[in-house]
Amino acid sequence: MLQVLKSNADVKPAGHINDGSVECESCKRIYRICEGIISFIDDALMDEKSSKEKHLRDERAVVHEPTAQWELENIMEMYPTIEMLKPSRNEILLELGCGTGRYTLALESAYSGILAVDFSRESLRKLSSKLAAPSPVGLVHADIFHFEVASEQFDTVFATLSRKAMYRVAASALKENGKFVFSVEHYTLREFVYNVPKSGYYEEVEFYRFLYTRGEIRRETRNYFCTVQTRTINVVMPFSFRLRVPVLLVGLSFIMSYIPVLSSLGRLMLVEARNPIRMTG
Ligand SMILES: C[S@@+](CC[C@H](N)C(=O)[O-])C[C@H]1O[C@@H](n2cnc3c(N)ncnc32)[C@H](O)[C@@H]1O
Repeated sequence: MLQVLKSNADVKPAGHINDGSVECESCKRIYRICEGIISFIDDALMDEKSSKEKHLRDERAVVHEPTAQWELENIMEMYPTIEMLKPSRNEILLELGCGTGRYTLALESAYSGILAVDFSRESLRKLSSKLAAPSPVGLVHADIFHFEVASEQFDTVFATLSRKAMYRVAASALKENGKFVFSVEHYTLREFVYNVPKSGYYEEVEFYRFLYTRGEIRRETRNYFCTVQTRTINVVMPFSFRLRVPVLLVGLSFIMSYIPVLSSLGRLMLVEARNPIRMTG
């Protein structure tokens, strides 16, 4: 349990603290809140791969300019993802890997509270500058490998970061009837044909990625959740991006994602996991 120690005069509406500190009631550690972002990060605990990605994400948050194709893929991905989340104004969401807020901003008015976590401070700062005032979003600077939340407090956990630590955090954070929704990169028929390695880095940026088959992601998720459902999204054909009209592209991708052979071309896999297995000890 965290207790507010001090806050300066710059307290935002709805009780938000912009600058100050909080103390853990049990271990007495003090955590800083700066520019509305609470920091739990300890760089010394991060492994080399995470440190490198954190650094790149910070750099990219400042300079990234979305391309037209990125915008189209964005719509294809976000529409079915938000449909799976089924947001509700009575619910509280924990978002792991919020980045600069592509989803957080779209969901800001759809939940009564959102706790948005990322290890890139620059991404969180960028997101902070775009939030409404007052906003139901709390910003947390943390590495999810070293992150805990109070157990069974969240209705939904959502992640776009595909790191194994997310299962532990989600299974503990969720209420008994809550759901964990996340997306991972899919090992499609195309990668199989071109013999693309499952484990590697994106071509355009040096971020690590793993391409999952449906069976692999189901097995991995079942270590933490009893009920797991998957579906592929972002099904694109060679001609897809010539359909410059977003609604056609999204509609076609949506229809193809339900046709068995075509759905195996979906670039992303959406997962909904329920009935968390509680870890003891
Ligand atoms: C694929 S991006 C998604 C960003 C955003 N949700 C979106 O959809 O545009 C993954 C995000 O997870 C964050 N991330 C990766 N590993 C992390 C970790 N170990 N702890 C916290 N955040 C992490 C990255 O900084 C990045 O913002």
